[in-house]
Order: sequence, then C-alpha cells, then structure tokens
Amino acid sequence: MQFITLNNDVKMPIIGLGTYSLTGKSGQSAMSEAIEVGYRLFDSAQMYHNQAELGAAIANAIKGGMKREDFFIQTKLLSANSEDAAKKSIEKSLKALNLDTIDSLLIHEPYAQSKAIYKAMESFYKQGILKSIGISNFGMRAYTEFVESCEIIPAINQCETHLLMQQKPLKEAMKSKKTLLQSWSPFIAGKGSILENPTLKSIAQNYNKTPAQVVLRFLIEQGIAVIPKTSKKHRMQENFNIFDFALNSQDKEILSGLDTNKSSFSWTNY
Ligand SMILES: NC(=O)c1ccc[n+]([C@@H]2O[C@H](COP(=O)([O-])OP(=O)(O)OC[C@H]3O[C@@H](n4cnc5c(N)ncnc54)[C@H](OP(=O)(O)O)[C@@H]3O)[C@@H](O)[C@H]2O)c1
Repeated sequence: MQFITLNNDVKMPIIGLGTYSLTGKSGQSAMSEAIEVGYRLFDSAQMYHNQAELGAAIANAIKGGMKREDFFIQTKLLSANSEDAAKKSIEKSLKALNLDTIDSLLIHEPYAQSKAIYKAMESFYKQGILKSIGISNFGMRAYTEFVESCEIIPAINQCETHLLMQQKPLKEAMKSKKTLLQSWSPFIAGKGSILENPTLKSIAQNYNKTPAQVVLRFLIEQGIAVIPKTSKKHRMQENFNIFDFALNSQDKEILSGLDTNKSSFSWTNY
C-alpha cells in the first residue's frame, strides 16, 4: 500500500474503496471484504445513506483485532443552512459512523452555504475531531474563489477524474496550496466502456495487467488519489493490485493524450 501526505501532514492511503450504492447488508459485507483484501480508506457520504454500514464494518474489524488508527474514514456533507446546522450535521455523521473522529470530511459539492459549512468544519478540525477537511466537485473557478476565504486550506478536492477528464488545469491551480486531487469515477462509473478502449487494452496487455489496473496506476503516477467502487471481491483485489508495476513514459504520454477535458456526467460544473 502506498500513502500520500496531505497538506497538513496527515498520511492517507492513495487508494480506497468508493462506496456509492453499497448499502444494507450486502453493502456492509462488501466493505468487510474490502478490509480483508487490504483496503483501509473508505469514501462514504451522507448522500449515500451508508454511513451506518461503514461504521458497522469498521466496528467488526476492530472487534476482530484491528485498530481505529488502521483506517482512514472519509465522508461528505450535504448542504446545511448555517454554521450551526452544519455542526449538527457533522455530529449526525459521527453518530451514524459510530466514531469519535473522521479522517477526512468533505463538502460534497459547491453549495450556496459552503463558506458557513466550512467554518463549522474548521471548528471541528481545530478540536481534533476531524483529522483533515476538504471539498468535492469544486472546479477551478469555484476552488480559487473558495480558498480565498479559508483559514484552513482544503486538504483534498474530490472530483471526477479519469482518462477522458484528467483535470490537468484544476490540478495545476491547486498545486501551490497542495490541495490533493482525489479521483471519483476512475472508470467513469462503468459508463461508455472506457475499459474496452483499444489503446488502453493494448497497453494493459504489455504489462500483463488489466485495463482497470492501468487506469488506476496511471492516475496514482500523476499523484492523484483514487477511490474505485466495486461490490465484487475479485475486482477489489484486482483494483488494489497496482503497486508492482510502473508505466513507461511513452505509455504515460499516450494515456495522457486520451484526455478530452470534458465531463462525462451531465450534472457536474467544472
Ligand atoms: N464526490 C462526488 O460527487 C462523487 C461522485 C461519484 C462518485 N464518487 C465516489 O467515487 C467512487 C467511485 O466512483 P463510481 O462508483 O461512480 O464509479 P467507478 O469507480 O468509476 O466505477 C464503478 C463501476 O465499475 C465497475 N468496476 C469496478 N472495478 C472494475 C474492474 N476492475 N473491472 C471492470 N469493472 C469494474 C463496477 O462494477 P461492480 O460493482 O459490479 O464491480 C461499477 O459498475 C464512488 O463509489 C463514490 O465513493 C463521488
């Protein structure tokens, strides 16, 4: 497992499990299987209605001998009308997760009340309840404007990032503040058959790796953290098994050239 150091010196696994749509008993079992495979970072959200399942999977692992510090738990806040409402919302997430601390808390997307929400997050961060704080889906303009008002610079900006949308300008804009780009939907959520792309397939063959492994390896080699989602244990293993090879510069250049800098999702606003 490879770790990346955030701008506040907290260490974070470079790969974690995305948990969108992992809910109920099957969702919790998938999270427990991911722990068996070796995943330690889990990305959840209030919006996913699965914080209780994640909390239960972690509690079971702790009962089995693991430690809370072994895990990096990330979740995301929905909008709130005021700083006070955001504080209550953070407390609700802590309760749902059944945890005293959260390793990374993000604002799920730019909301009209983002600044008030972030003030609540800064306050919990200073108390040590949140180990790092950040944002999600803040494009270059939204990011640049937002950081102006932050006392604590966001550690992470979680955004759509994959071969067709590599977020090069945003990454560049975040460089000086050391805000880390974390990729959501590295496989474009299974839409559009990116894993069937012939260029990607032929590169993967040369390394005796799968297209999914090459996508994830390409992203982490650009210093981008990844949170691929799967409910299947064999794919959890496949997606995790990316630390025993490196892409050569020619292949990196070819993959970099697939970037269209266009979102594959209608609701985003980068
Ligand atoms: N901040 C945000 O607004 C935001 C938005 C979207 C997502 N996210 C986060 O990012 C995570 C990942 O994004 P995502 O869930 O949208 O999509 P994704 O990780 O790009 O792709 C998931 C899809 O790929 C399949 N898959 C996974 N591994 C595979 C492999 N090795 N080979 C072939 N297919 C594979 C999965 O199917 P199976 O499950 O059947 O294996 C699923 O259909 C989410 O779960 C969530 O935590 C955040």
